[in-house]
Amino acid sequence: MQTTQVAIVGAGPSGLLLGQLLARSGIANVVIEQRSADYVLGRIRAGVLEHTCTDLLEAAGVSARLHAEGLPHDGVCLSFDDRLHRIDLLGLTGKRVTVYGQTEVTRDLMDARRAAALSTVYQADEVRVHDFLDGSAPRVTWVQDGQAHELRADFIAGCDGFHGVCRASVPAEKIALHEKVYPFGWLGVLSDTPPVHEELIYAHHPRGFALCSQRSHTRSRYYVQCSLDDKVENWSDEAFWNELRLRLPAEVAARLVTGASIEKSIAPLRSFVAEPLRFGRLFLVGDAGHIVPPTGAKGLNLAASDVGYLWQALEGFYAGRRGEIDHYSQRALARIWKAERFSWSMTLLLHRFPENGSFGARMQRAELDYLFSSQAAMTALAENYVGLPM
Ligand code: APR
Ligand code: PHB
Repeated sequence: MQTTQVAIVGAGPSGLLLGQLLARSGIANVVIEQRSADYVLGRIRAGVLEHTCTDLLEAAGVSARLHAEGLPHDGVCLSFDDRLHRIDLLGLTGKRVTVYGQTEVTRDLMDARRAAALSTVYQADEVRVHDFLDGSAPRVTWVQDGQAHELRADFIAGCDGFHGVCRASVPAEKIALHEKVYPFGWLGVLSDTPPVHEELIYAHHPRGFALCSQRSHTRSRYYVQCSLDDKVENWSDEAFWNELRLRLPAEVAARLVTGASIEKSIAPLRSFVAEPLRFGRLFLVGDAGHIVPPTGAKGLNLAASDVGYLWQALEGFYAGRRGEIDHYSQRALARIWKAERFSWSMTLLLHRFPENGSFGARMQRAELDYLFSSQAAMTALAENYVGLPM
């Protein structure tokens, strides 16, 4: 049987970032992931990083490519009524965001983990977590190539995403789940075409929400709000580009450069929080503990701030401040709920909700009009978008 200090379940951004930070603090860790590294890198996710996230990547020693290739954005645009409206993030908050894909963050973390020769198990089947509620010797077991493996640790970090095994292993009476499912999804397209605008555009339109995002000066990421029973196969590239154009201001639509999609997928929208985030010697981190709808670009950033809090707590524990782990759940949740609120409010503000009738639609318009008439309202949006302090 192997032993380590922290067993990390899941090699997404949460697990890999935590592993890197712990290693830098001299805390031994092993990452156990059910998929292959290529599979993990194949998942296309969001790409807007808050400074809290880039600071942590820096602390982890994985920011060289982020600084070289990431695109600093000083503002973000909303569109409605055929017009673009800009929120001056830098002017209102003194902070900017960085556009850099989650896939690239994950790749950088994997490269750093390999370079530091830290132990990572990919393609682990039947991963299970044991003995975390009582006692001080939790275990992770898995099967690989038909062989049973066991890892004993001081702690288990459940970084295994929304569908992972860690949260599911907590007895139902010990955990509260808060959830809101939205009645639509996002159809996303990635294409090697120049972005339609230098900044992101969040578009509110009677046909539904749309988002113009980007990965680089030559790669774009676009989304349109779609029905939950839509199928990717029913959306040709041409149908997607036509729908996107219809939801953008005419002068923006006229500039849209289209091309073959290199990825196309539909994601449902969900808000979800599990409470608490610590169960004895098991911690839930990132998507394992909470989900936000992507409208606020908070998913990856929240995962990173959870990791930041847990890193502090474990560093404290091993430095003799054993009580610090008692504060992880409460500290992380305080920030999580604020990001949940922001993501939920952006979702309600910008999407089409026919079930809310003409009154609901007028409320959205009044809120948008108010937003762009009030420095205070724009500042509130901006300070949430760039990320609240840790
Ligand atoms: N055993 C081992 N690994 C598992 C298991 C399991 N039973 N179940 C899931 N995993 C792995 C997944 O294959 C995945 O690689 O855990 C990893 C979880 O990664 P993510 O889902 O990316 O979650 P997280 O690292 O918390 O990152 C959060 O991802 O979904 C976005 O919006 C979210 O950007 C945010 C970020
Ligand atoms: C993305 O680039 O994929 C993206 C950007 C901002 C969001 C959501 C997704 O709010």
